[in-house]
Amino acid sequence: MKELVDRLRRNQALPAEELRRLLTDNDPTIREYLRRNAQEVALAHFGRGIFIRGLIEISNRCRNDCRYCGIRRSNRLATRYRLDRQTVLDCCAEGYRLGMRTFVMQGGEDPALTDAFLTDLVGEIHRRWPDCAITLSLGERSEASYRALFEAGANRYLLRHETIDPDHYRLLHPEEMSLENRVQCLRALKKIGYQTGTGIMVGSPGQTPDLIVKDLQFIAEFKPQMIGIGPFIPHRDTPFGQEPAGSVELTVKLLSILRLLCPSALIPATTALATLSGDGRILGIQAGANVVMPNLSPPDERSKYNLYNGKAAFGCEAAEGLDSLERELEKVGYHISWDRGDYIEQD
Ligand code: 5AD
Repeated sequence: MKELVDRLRRNQALPAEELRRLLTDNDPTIREYLRRNAQEVALAHFGRGIFIRGLIEISNRCRNDCRYCGIRRSNRLATRYRLDRQTVLDCCAEGYRLGMRTFVMQGGEDPALTDAFLTDLVGEIHRRWPDCAITLSLGERSEASYRALFEAGANRYLLRHETIDPDHYRLLHPEEMSLENRVQCLRALKKIGYQTGTGIMVGSPGQTPDLIVKDLQFIAEFKPQMIGIGPFIPHRDTPFGQEPAGSVELTVKLLSILRLLCPSALIPATTALATLSGDGRILGIQAGANVVMPNLSPPDERSKYNLYNGKAAFGCEAAEGLDSLERELEKVGYHISWDRGDYIEQD
Protein backbone atom coordinates (compact mmCIF):
# COMPACT_ATOMS: atom_id res chain seq x y z
CA MET A 1 0.00 0.00 0.00
CA LYS A 2 2.91 2.39 0.72
CA GLU A 3 4.05 1.72 -2.81
CA LEU A 4 0.72 3.14 -4.06
CA VAL A 5 1.33 6.34 -2.15
CA ASP A 6 4.89 6.57 -3.52
CA ARG A 7 3.64 6.05 -7.05
CA LEU A 8 0.81 8.55 -6.63
CA ARG A 9 3.33 11.10 -5.43
CA ARG A 10 5.83 10.34 -8.19
CA ASN A 11 3.36 10.20 -11.09
CA GLN A 12 0.70 12.61 -9.82
CA ALA A 13 -1.72 9.93 -10.98
CA LEU A 14 -2.95 6.48 -10.05
CA PRO A 15 -5.24 4.01 -11.86
CA ALA A 16 -8.86 3.94 -10.65
CA GLU A 17 -8.63 0.56 -8.97
CA GLU A 18 -5.62 1.63 -6.93
CA LEU A 19 -7.17 4.96 -6.00
CA ARG A 20 -10.10 2.96 -4.72
CA ARG A 21 -7.86 0.71 -2.64
CA LEU A 22 -6.10 3.68 -1.11
CA LEU A 23 -9.42 5.37 -0.40
CA THR A 24 -11.02 2.38 1.32
CA ASP A 25 -7.92 1.20 3.17
CA ASN A 26 -8.25 1.50 6.94
CA ASP A 27 -4.69 1.00 8.12
CA PRO A 28 -3.65 3.94 10.34
CA THR A 29 0.00 3.50 9.31
CA ILE A 30 -0.90 4.00 5.66
CA ARG A 31 -3.17 6.91 6.48
CA GLU A 32 -0.29 8.59 8.30
CA TYR A 33 2.14 7.78 5.46
CA LEU A 34 -0.24 9.36 2.95
CA ARG A 35 -0.73 12.42 5.14
CA ARG A 36 3.00 12.90 5.64
CA ASN A 37 3.72 12.64 1.93
CA ALA A 38 0.99 15.18 1.12
CA GLN A 39 2.29 17.55 3.78
CA GLU A 40 5.81 17.25 2.37
CA VAL A 41 4.59 18.07 -1.14
CA ALA A 42 2.65 21.10 0.14
CA LEU A 43 5.70 22.29 2.07
CA ALA A 44 7.92 21.85 -0.99
CA HIS A 45 5.55 24.01 -3.08
CA PHE A 46 4.36 26.61 -0.60
CA GLY A 47 6.59 26.46 2.47
CA ARG A 48 4.98 27.16 5.84
CA GLY A 49 2.89 30.14 4.70
CA ILE A 50 -0.89 29.63 4.59
CA PHE A 51 -2.78 31.91 2.22
CA ILE A 52 -5.84 33.72 3.56
CA ARG A 53 -8.94 34.81 1.60
CA GLY A 54 -11.57 37.16 2.95
CA LEU A 55 -14.97 35.54 2.40
CA ILE A 56 -17.87 37.93 1.79
CA GLU A 57 -21.24 36.18 1.61
CA ILE A 58 -23.07 38.68 -0.56
CA SER A 59 -26.53 37.09 -0.79
CA ASN A 60 -28.33 34.04 0.56
CA ARG A 61 -31.14 34.33 -1.95
CA CYS A 62 -31.09 31.48 -4.45
CA ARG A 63 -33.19 30.37 -7.39
CA ASN A 64 -31.94 26.79 -7.02
CA ASP A 65 -33.32 24.06 -4.84
CA CYS A 66 -30.36 21.79 -4.11
CA ARG A 67 -31.42 19.11 -1.65
CA TYR A 68 -28.38 19.51 0.59
CA CYS A 69 -28.29 23.27 0.90
CA GLY A 70 -29.85 25.37 3.64
CA ILE A 71 -30.35 28.41 1.41
CA ARG A 72 -32.29 26.41 -1.20
CA ARG A 73 -35.24 28.27 -2.65
CA SER A 74 -37.91 26.24 -0.92
CA ASN A 75 -36.51 26.72 2.58
CA ARG A 76 -39.09 29.23 3.83
CA LEU A 77 -37.42 29.30 7.24
CA ALA A 78 -34.25 30.95 5.98
CA THR A 79 -34.04 34.67 6.71
CA ARG A 80 -33.01 36.17 3.41
CA TYR A 81 -30.60 39.05 2.89
CA ARG A 82 -28.52 40.65 0.18
CA LEU A 83 -25.61 42.99 0.86
CA ASP A 84 -25.70 46.31 -0.94
CA ARG A 85 -22.79 47.75 -2.87
CA GLN A 86 -21.57 49.95 -0.04
CA THR A 87 -21.64 47.14 2.50
CA VAL A 88 -19.52 44.91 0.25
CA LEU A 89 -17.03 47.74 -0.27
CA ASP A 90 -16.89 48.31 3.50
CA CYS A 91 -16.12 44.59 3.97
CA CYS A 92 -13.29 44.85 1.45
CA ALA A 93 -11.91 47.97 3.16
CA GLU A 94 -11.91 46.15 6.48
CA GLY A 95 -10.30 43.07 4.93
CA TYR A 96 -7.63 45.21 3.29
CA ARG A 97 -6.91 46.93 6.59
CA LEU A 98 -6.45 43.50 8.19
CA GLY A 99 -3.96 42.60 5.46
CA MET A 100 -6.11 40.44 3.21
CA ARG A 101 -5.25 40.57 -0.48
CA THR A 102 -7.95 38.28 -1.86
CA PHE A 103 -11.68 38.92 -1.58
CA VAL A 104 -14.06 36.06 -2.30
CA MET A 105 -17.60 37.10 -3.09
CA GLN A 106 -19.83 34.11 -2.60
CA GLY A 107 -23.58 33.91 -2.85
CA GLY A 108 -26.61 31.98 -3.95
CA GLU A 109 -27.86 32.25 -7.52
CA ASP A 110 -29.75 35.44 -6.74
CA PRO A 111 -31.36 36.93 -9.87
CA ALA A 112 -30.77 40.41 -8.44
CA LEU A 113 -27.02 39.84 -8.83
CA THR A 114 -27.17 41.04 -12.41
CA ASP A 115 -24.18 41.55 -14.66
CA ALA A 116 -24.70 45.31 -14.35
CA PHE A 117 -24.62 45.21 -10.54
CA LEU A 118 -21.69 42.79 -10.35
CA THR A 119 -19.48 44.32 -13.05
CA ASP A 120 -19.87 47.71 -11.37
CA LEU A 121 -19.01 46.20 -7.98
CA VAL A 122 -16.07 44.13 -9.24
CA GLY A 123 -14.82 47.12 -11.23
CA GLU A 124 -14.96 49.35 -8.18
CA ILE A 125 -13.11 46.82 -5.98
CA HIS A 126 -10.51 46.44 -8.71
CA ARG A 127 -10.05 50.24 -8.94
CA ARG A 128 -9.83 50.79 -5.19
CA TRP A 129 -7.62 47.81 -4.34
CA PRO A 130 -5.71 47.03 -7.55
CA ASP A 131 -3.24 44.84 -5.66
CA CYS A 132 -6.00 42.43 -4.58
CA ALA A 133 -7.30 39.30 -6.26
CA ILE A 134 -11.06 39.08 -6.76
CA THR A 135 -12.63 35.64 -6.52
CA LEU A 136 -16.26 34.98 -7.36
CA SER A 137 -18.37 32.05 -6.21
CA LEU A 138 -21.81 32.82 -7.57
CA GLY A 139 -22.85 29.63 -9.27
CA GLU A 140 -23.85 29.00 -12.84
CA ARG A 141 -23.99 32.01 -15.17
CA SER A 142 -23.72 32.47 -18.91
CA GLU A 143 -20.34 32.48 -20.61
CA ALA A 144 -20.98 36.11 -21.58
CA SER A 145 -21.55 36.97 -17.93
CA TYR A 146 -18.37 35.18 -16.82
CA ARG A 147 -16.50 37.08 -19.52
CA ALA A 148 -17.92 40.47 -18.51
CA LEU A 149 -16.97 39.85 -14.89
CA PHE A 150 -13.48 38.77 -15.88
CA GLU A 151 -13.06 41.93 -17.93
CA ALA A 152 -14.29 43.99 -14.99
CA GLY A 153 -11.42 42.62 -12.90
CA ALA A 154 -12.37 39.25 -11.42
CA ASN A 155 -9.47 36.78 -11.48
CA ARG A 156 -10.74 33.57 -9.93
CA TYR A 157 -13.99 31.60 -9.82
CA LEU A 158 -15.10 28.80 -7.49
CA LEU A 159 -17.73 26.39 -8.75
CA ARG A 160 -17.73 22.93 -7.23
CA HIS A 161 -18.96 20.22 -9.57
CA GLU A 162 -20.33 18.44 -6.43
CA THR A 163 -20.24 15.01 -8.13
CA ILE A 164 -19.21 13.94 -11.63
CA ASP A 165 -21.77 11.15 -11.83
CA PRO A 166 -24.93 12.29 -13.67
CA ASP A 167 -27.29 10.11 -11.59
CA HIS A 168 -25.74 11.20 -8.32
CA TYR A 169 -25.90 14.78 -9.55
CA ARG A 170 -29.63 14.36 -10.12
CA LEU A 171 -30.07 12.92 -6.64
CA LEU A 172 -28.49 16.02 -5.11
CA HIS A 173 -30.02 18.63 -7.37
CA PRO A 174 -33.43 19.65 -8.72
CA GLU A 175 -34.53 18.57 -12.15
CA GLU A 176 -33.76 21.89 -13.83
CA MET A 177 -30.07 21.51 -13.07
CA SER A 178 -27.67 19.29 -14.94
CA LEU A 179 -24.12 18.07 -14.55
CA GLU A 180 -23.60 18.86 -18.21
CA ASN A 181 -24.28 22.53 -17.67
CA ARG A 182 -22.10 22.61 -14.56
CA VAL A 183 -19.15 21.14 -16.44
CA GLN A 184 -19.74 23.50 -19.36
CA CYS A 185 -19.57 26.42 -16.95
CA LEU A 186 -16.28 25.10 -15.56
CA ARG A 187 -14.78 24.75 -19.02
CA ALA A 188 -15.93 28.24 -19.98
CA LEU A 189 -14.39 29.73 -16.84
CA LYS A 190 -11.05 28.12 -17.57
CA LYS A 191 -11.12 29.14 -21.22
CA ILE A 192 -11.82 32.77 -20.29
CA GLY A 193 -8.72 32.76 -18.11
CA TYR A 194 -10.05 32.49 -14.59
CA GLN A 195 -8.06 30.56 -12.02
CA THR A 196 -10.83 28.03 -11.63
CA GLY A 197 -11.80 26.04 -8.57
CA THR A 198 -13.95 22.97 -8.33
CA GLY A 199 -14.59 20.22 -5.80
CA ILE A 200 -17.06 18.06 -3.94
CA MET A 201 -18.73 17.50 -0.61
CA VAL A 202 -17.42 14.43 1.17
CA GLY A 203 -20.14 12.07 2.37
CA SER A 204 -23.03 13.62 0.47
CA PRO A 205 -26.07 11.31 0.42
CA GLY A 206 -25.64 8.55 -2.16
CA GLN A 207 -21.88 9.01 -2.50
CA THR A 208 -19.85 5.78 -2.74
CA PRO A 209 -16.10 5.11 -2.96
CA ASP A 210 -16.48 4.41 -6.69
CA LEU A 211 -18.12 7.79 -7.20
CA ILE A 212 -15.33 9.51 -5.27
CA VAL A 213 -12.77 7.79 -7.51
CA LYS A 214 -14.58 9.22 -10.54
CA ASP A 215 -14.47 12.68 -8.93
CA LEU A 216 -10.74 12.32 -8.33
CA GLN A 217 -10.21 11.30 -11.95
CA PHE A 218 -12.25 14.25 -13.17
CA ILE A 219 -10.27 16.65 -11.00
CA ALA A 220 -6.96 15.15 -12.15
CA GLU A 221 -8.01 15.61 -15.76
CA PHE A 222 -9.62 19.05 -15.43
CA LYS A 223 -6.61 20.39 -13.51
CA PRO A 224 -8.35 23.11 -11.53
CA GLN A 225 -6.13 25.77 -9.97
CA MET A 226 -8.17 25.52 -6.77
CA ILE A 227 -9.89 22.54 -5.13
CA GLY A 228 -12.55 22.94 -2.45
CA ILE A 229 -13.62 19.89 -0.50
CA GLY A 230 -15.39 19.68 2.82
CA PRO A 231 -17.63 17.23 4.61
CA PHE A 232 -21.36 17.25 3.90
CA ILE A 233 -23.18 18.58 6.97
CA PRO A 234 -26.97 18.22 7.16
CA HIS A 235 -29.20 21.28 7.42
CA ARG A 236 -32.37 20.46 9.34
CA ASP A 237 -34.70 22.33 6.98
CA THR A 238 -33.66 20.47 3.85
CA PRO A 239 -34.66 17.07 2.42
CA PHE A 240 -31.29 15.72 3.62
CA GLY A 241 -31.79 17.05 7.13
CA GLN A 242 -31.72 13.58 8.71
CA GLU A 243 -28.75 12.26 6.74
CA PRO A 244 -25.45 11.66 8.55
CA ALA A 245 -22.61 14.15 8.16
CA GLY A 246 -19.55 13.24 6.13
CA SER A 247 -16.45 12.01 7.89
CA VAL A 248 -13.59 14.26 8.98
CA GLU A 249 -11.16 11.41 8.51
CA LEU A 250 -12.20 10.73 4.92
CA THR A 251 -12.13 14.46 4.11
CA VAL A 252 -8.58 14.73 5.43
CA LYS A 253 -7.55 11.65 3.48
CA LEU A 254 -9.00 13.13 0.30
CA LEU A 255 -7.16 16.39 0.91
CA SER A 256 -3.93 14.37 0.93
CA ILE A 257 -4.78 12.42 -2.21
CA LEU A 258 -5.71 15.65 -3.99
CA ARG A 259 -2.47 17.30 -2.92
CA LEU A 260 -0.53 14.41 -4.46
CA LEU A 261 -2.65 14.46 -7.63
CA CYS A 262 -2.43 18.24 -8.03
CA PRO A 263 0.74 19.38 -6.23
CA SER A 264 0.49 23.10 -7.01
CA ALA A 265 -3.28 23.52 -6.51
CA LEU A 266 -4.61 25.96 -3.94
CA ILE A 267 -6.57 23.82 -1.49
CA PRO A 268 -8.39 25.32 1.48
CA ALA A 269 -9.00 23.71 4.83
CA THR A 270 -12.71 24.53 4.55
CA THR A 271 -15.15 26.01 7.03
CA ALA A 272 -17.21 22.80 6.88
CA LEU A 273 -14.18 20.83 8.06
CA ALA A 274 -13.58 23.33 10.87
CA THR A 275 -17.28 23.11 11.75
CA LEU A 276 -17.23 19.33 12.23
CA SER A 277 -13.98 19.25 14.15
CA GLY A 278 -12.39 21.83 16.44
CA ASP A 279 -8.99 21.06 14.96
CA GLY A 280 -10.27 20.54 11.40
CA ARG A 281 -8.33 23.50 10.05
CA ILE A 282 -5.03 22.24 11.43
CA LEU A 283 -5.74 18.63 10.43
CA GLY A 284 -6.43 19.88 6.91
CA ILE A 285 -3.24 21.93 6.74
CA GLN A 286 -1.16 19.06 8.05
CA ALA A 287 -2.71 16.87 5.35
CA GLY A 288 -1.75 19.19 2.50
CA ALA A 289 -4.21 22.12 2.49
CA ASN A 290 -2.62 25.56 2.13
CA VAL A 291 -5.46 28.11 2.27
CA VAL A 292 -7.98 29.30 4.85
CA MET A 293 -10.92 31.58 4.15
CA PRO A 294 -11.82 33.68 7.19
CA ASN A 295 -15.33 35.10 7.15
CA LEU A 296 -15.40 38.81 6.32
CA SER A 297 -19.19 39.21 6.04
CA PRO A 298 -20.96 41.61 8.40
CA PRO A 299 -21.38 39.55 11.63
CA ASP A 300 -25.20 39.84 11.59
CA GLU A 301 -25.43 38.29 8.15
CA ARG A 302 -22.93 35.50 8.82
CA SER A 303 -25.44 33.52 10.82
CA LYS A 304 -28.02 33.84 8.03
CA TYR A 305 -25.73 32.32 5.42
CA ASN A 306 -26.39 28.80 6.58
CA LEU A 307 -25.64 26.15 4.00
CA TYR A 308 -25.60 23.67 6.90
CA ASN A 309 -26.25 23.81 10.65
CA GLY A 310 -23.62 24.95 13.12
CA LYS A 311 -21.36 26.84 10.69
CA ALA A 312 -18.14 28.10 12.27
CA ALA A 313 -18.01 31.83 11.43
CA PHE A 314 -16.30 33.39 14.43
CA GLY A 315 -12.94 32.95 16.18
CA CYS A 316 -10.33 31.52 13.83
CA GLU A 317 -12.94 31.34 11.04
CA ALA A 318 -13.47 35.11 11.16
CA ALA A 319 -11.55 38.08 9.83
CA GLU A 320 -11.49 39.55 13.37
CA GLY A 321 -9.85 36.32 14.52
CA LEU A 322 -6.69 36.54 12.40
CA ASP A 323 -4.60 36.85 15.57
CA SER A 324 -6.00 33.62 16.98
CA LEU A 325 -5.59 31.97 13.58
CA GLU A 326 -1.94 33.06 13.51
CA ARG A 327 -1.39 31.64 17.01
CA GLU A 328 -3.09 28.39 16.08
CA LEU A 329 -0.90 28.09 12.98
CA GLU A 330 2.28 28.96 14.88
CA LYS A 331 1.69 26.13 17.34
CA VAL A 332 2.18 23.67 14.48
CA GLY A 333 4.97 25.56 12.74
CA TYR A 334 2.95 27.46 10.14
CA HIS A 335 2.11 31.15 9.69
CA ILE A 336 -0.23 33.35 7.67
CA SER A 337 1.15 34.34 4.27
CA TRP A 338 0.08 37.91 3.45
CA ASP A 339 0.81 37.31 -0.22
CA ARG A 340 -2.23 37.29 -2.51
CA GLY A 341 -1.35 33.73 -3.39
CA ASP A 342 -2.03 33.32 -7.10
CA TYR A 343 -1.76 29.93 -8.68
CA ILE A 344 1.75 29.19 -9.94
CA GLU A 345 2.31 26.22 -12.23
CA GLN A 346 5.14 24.07 -10.88
CA ASP A 347 6.39 20.54 -11.34
N1 5AD B 1 -22.81 20.69 3.81
C1 5AD B 1 -21.57 20.93 3.35
N2 5AD B 1 -21.29 21.71 2.30
C2 5AD B 1 -22.33 22.28 1.67
N3 5AD B 1 -22.39 23.06 0.59
C3 5AD B 1 -23.68 23.37 0.36
N4 5AD B 1 -24.48 22.79 1.26
C4 5AD B 1 -23.67 22.08 2.08
C5 5AD B 1 -23.89 21.24 3.21
N5 5AD B 1 -25.12 20.99 3.65
C6 5AD B 1 -21.21 23.39 -0.21
C7 5AD B 1 -21.42 23.02 -1.67
C8 5AD B 1 -21.26 24.35 -2.38
C9 5AD B 1 -20.45 25.17 -1.40
C10 5AD B 1 -20.58 26.64 -1.56
O1 5AD B 1 -20.96 24.76 -0.14
O2 5AD B 1 -20.42 22.11 -2.09
O3 5AD B 1 -20.60 24.24 -3.63
